[in-house]
Amino acid sequence: MSQAAATPGWADSSHGLGRLIERLIGIGLLRRPLFFQARQLIIRTAERNGIPWRARRRELREAAAPLLATSATPGLVPPAYYVARFHAYEQGNLCWQAAAEAEQATDAMALRVWPEESLSPVVAQARLRDAIHRAVEPLLEGRLDRVLDLGCSVGVSTQALARWLNQRADARGDQRPELIGLDLSPDMLAVARVRDQDGLVEQWRHAAAEKTGLETGCCDLISLQFVCHELPQAATHAVLLESARLLRPGGALVMVDQDPASSVLQRLPAAVATLLKSTEPYIEQYFGLDMPAALEQAGFRNPRISACDPRHRVIACLR
Ligand SMILES: C[S@@+](CC[C@H](N)C(=O)[O-])C[C@H]1O[C@@H](n2cnc3c(N)ncnc32)[C@H](O)[C@@H]1O
Repeated sequence: MSQAAATPGWADSSHGLGRLIERLIGIGLLRRPLFFQARQLIIRTAERNGIPWRARRRELREAAAPLLATSATPGLVPPAYYVARFHAYEQGNLCWQAAAEAEQATDAMALRVWPEESLSPVVAQARLRDAIHRAVEPLLEGRLDRVLDLGCSVGVSTQALARWLNQRADARGDQRPELIGLDLSPDMLAVARVRDQDGLVEQWRHAAAEKTGLETGCCDLISLQFVCHELPQAATHAVLLESARLLRPGGALVMVDQDPASSVLQRLPAAVATLLKSTEPYIEQYFGLDMPAALEQAGFRNPRISACDPRHRVIACLR
């Protein structure tokens, strides 16, 4: 089946339900109450499921505020596509609310993967990340010196990588790898620094994933987790090219995101699809992109694609 044929019907705004959704979202007076409803629903559900959404938001905001200024690269102007409404935040990823709620939203996302089981947020998050790590493990050879987590947000993916890779290094008797988390949002990075109490991550870097400023061939492994659905296609191509530049020959890339072939996503109820689409401006471009072809074009080989859970696919490949 081609990539486009697998795209969920609701994600296509050229006709049918997708087109109707697009039109509704375009009307500010309808969008704002829709965003409000989406947020209320997400927060209520999360708190019912053991995620202390509002208390944690207060705590993280207070602790991160003093770190904000030192989390930004002076003069860095984000690309225009990045300054868009995302996830029901009018200022997208560039605001304290998005950053102080990202950990809770990431846990809520993990819980949604297995709705039939009453998992704790910690167990669901660990299960989600373990499946991603298992998919790339067979591609890793030898010692890993430097690992880069692109679009690290508040560091949930970065810390999970650090725990897994430190264990791997200890088991092999290697030196532990240096971990770098990179993101375009200083707010997210300030929260990441607060959350990284154990100092698992060497560097929290404020930069664009398509223009990292890092040296050619300096990385052994690059992770791109839940980032591409937030990018227009041109930006995804640019990020893949930059990743290929940064990886040493034989280095590995692991990416995970929504699985266009997931039957759960294909069958999302119209109301849920409407909310999802109203909060993800580039989701249609993501579903429309032939990712294996894009990877090959950027210089990667042998992409191994697998469903890592009922909603997501992981793609692991070599430079
Ligand atoms: C959904 S979060 C991913 C979170 C994290 N990787 C995880 O798996 O928990 C997406 C992140 O990508 C970041 N992002 C989006 N476009 C980016 C770009 N061009 N360069 C760097 N970061 C970007 C956003 O700021 C956001 O923090």
